[in-house]
Amino acid sequence: MKFQIKPGFCFPTQFWTAELNENIKRLQNEAYLIRENDKDGVSKSNTGINGYHSKDIRDLKNLPATNHLLNQIINAVNAIHQISRQGDLLLTNFWLNISPKGSSNIPHTHSGLTYSGVFYIKVPKEMKGGRFLFYRNFNEADFISTEYMGHFKKDYQLQSYDYPINTISPKENMLVVFPAWVPHGVEINLSDEERISLSFNFKLNRNFASVK
Ligand SMILES: [Fe+2]
Repeated sequence: MKFQIKPGFCFPTQFWTAELNENIKRLQNEAYLIRENDKDGVSKSNTGINGYHSKDIRDLKNLPATNHLLNQIINAVNAIHQISRQGDLLLTNFWLNISPKGSSNIPHTHSGLTYSGVFYIKVPKEMKGGRFLFYRNFNEADFISTEYMGHFKKDYQLQSYDYPINTISPKENMLVVFPAWVPHGVEINLSDEERISLSFNFKLNRNFASVK
């Protein structure tokens, strides 16, 4: 070959994680209280057996640990935003997921918003399945990738850009934040224990007068 081939990258996507130091036991108790007071919840991306998705939580009066957590999340997401951007964000809504064995969340986005994320309140001691999944896009599953691009060479070391899906293994007290447009979902929980998480959305505070 008399020419040089140069690889490039288009649109690498950032996400952020942080380990918080919240009182997990109290958050777990408050999670069950939230479900007790909103038994029906709503049906959204949650699917499978008995997956519980609360309505948007609006009253934090009897939920001091959840209130503390949300203040930490607001600080963290604003700090992430302000690494490269001006202005503040507004927390638009937040809700609780309680995911027993057999439950999962189908791929979806939170389009129209700015940042989304999840905080893990309870993770099974022996986790089977239940990982958080980022999808490069909705159309590209493993099957389609193989169909169009062929199979990888036997000894080829896969790189991050080769994967159509990126997985995160949840841990208690772990915060994950990502741009709201990124497709994401959750694997089926195959553990006997349930997983509890709090999810949230932020949007830009479009009060331009406050942008420095
Ligand atoms: Fe989501």
